[in-house]
Amino acid sequence: MRKCQLWAGLCRPAFGVVLLILLSGCLEQSQTTVDDQGARISSFDWGLPEHIPLPREPEDNPMTEEKFQLGRHLFYDTRLSSNGTISCSSCHHQDKAFSDGLAQASGATGERHPRNSQALVNVAWNNTLTWANPSLGTIEKQIMIPLFGDDPIEHGLNEGNHEQVLRSLQAEPEYASLFAAAFPDQADPLFDDLAWDNVVKALASFVRGLSSFDSDFDRGAMSAAALRGERLFNSERLECFHCHAGYNFTDATTDRLTTYNTLLFHNTGLYNIDGLGAYPEPNTGRHEVTGRADHMGQFRAPSLRNVALTAPYNHDGSVDTLEDVIRNYAAGGRLRVSPPNAGDGRMNPLKDGFIASFPITEDEIQDVVAFLESLTDQAFVTNPRFANPWTDNSNKDLIP
Ligand code: HEC
Ligand code: HEC
Repeated sequence: MRKCQLWAGLCRPAFGVVLLILLSGCLEQSQTTVDDQGARISSFDWGLPEHIPLPREPEDNPMTEEKFQLGRHLFYDTRLSSNGTISCSSCHHQDKAFSDGLAQASGATGERHPRNSQALVNVAWNNTLTWANPSLGTIEKQIMIPLFGDDPIEHGLNEGNHEQVLRSLQAEPEYASLFAAAFPDQADPLFDDLAWDNVVKALASFVRGLSSFDSDFDRGAMSAAALRGERLFNSERLECFHCHAGYNFTDATTDRLTTYNTLLFHNTGLYNIDGLGAYPEPNTGRHEVTGRADHMGQFRAPSLRNVALTAPYNHDGSVDTLEDVIRNYAAGGRLRVSPPNAGDGRMNPLKDGFIASFPITEDEIQDVVAFLESLTDQAFVTNPRFANPWTDNSNKDLIP
């Protein structure tokens, strides 16, 4: 089997180019996944309710408890950034279902990310990663972006500093045993040329293990208002269930029972600049990646699990409350009267067919909100398994 040698080309000058080529190699390889629900390729304890199908695992990175635990340490470690200021948990806080409460966060150098930090909830079941990238099929591939991307800069790792960052990880005594346990077949998993590949695999394993299926909804413990909201959510009047479908409340779900993956993206009429359907740069959705005019404004329907904890909303954090999200749907899109990006989203010519105005009362809006709140999983946001493992405060996420 061909190894995914992420760092083989690091010393060459064209860092970005080399990285891209190697990344596509990874994607090719990790597309082979195990589909047989019965045959577990790892003994990882997913701890899922019986009716939830197991998620896929990449063949070259099967889940293990040891990789999950190593990934957890790395996720909360600010040493994994160019200047020691940023960890994954800077933008992904457990108490907010691993979102951050900001419209848009800033990376290690202060550069603002154009998109809203996503919640990390049941990511293992998503058939594509991020708000709108049809070519990101694995968490491993996605994680390269916050670590090494330069537009925007998040962790800020690059050709010039990655060796120094690796040295700071090598200097941590806990990592020697964590890496050895996670990669038992390698003689020196934190030192040889697979070190960065291992970091990425461990981080992906931790993210893949962040599952949430223990809300009031799951336990059948919903209030009367939440039950009324659920009926509205599943009604042909509101149409929510078409896109926020199934056990993870998104039509972007894949699992080991999925035989055919359709990658779906939708335009919900948030913008309509100049009346031509345009969304503001660089947040043009699937269009940003494919360049196709008909993909303008199309985004992946996010899972709605724990959504009550992840305000502000939508791909750019431009909607403050769940009530306002619902009001935009009821209007059939969002009217933005004042600049920047003014335009009548209700008239967006590229809007999805299910996005059409509908009548709704204030009480009904509150019922839908109660339903969405019933998808909050308190055990998930307080689970010590997902929390910061570092007892020594010096290197953990210091950003509140
Ligand atoms: C500066 C803030 C920031 C940091 C630091 C950051 N992220 Fe993110 N994360 C985001 C944003 C913003 C998105 C959405 C990106 C997009 O749509 O292009 C995202 C998306 C993701 C996704 C996709 C989730 C999904 O459902 O598709 C994963 C997985 C993820 N981040 C994991 C990580 C990991 C692991 C790290 C640490 C290596 C990390 N992030 C560091 C802001 C951040
Ligand atoms: C046509 C498909 C579609 C329909 C119908 C739909 N949604 Fe969405 N939903 C999406 C997409 C796509 C996004 C992300 C859009 C963006 O950010 O540009 C989204 C975003 C959201 C968000 C914000 C989530 C977050 O993490 O920021 C909420 C809440 C939500 N929808 C609830 C609902 C409710 C309630 C209904 C029914 C009234 C509904 N949706 C109907 C596709 C849909």
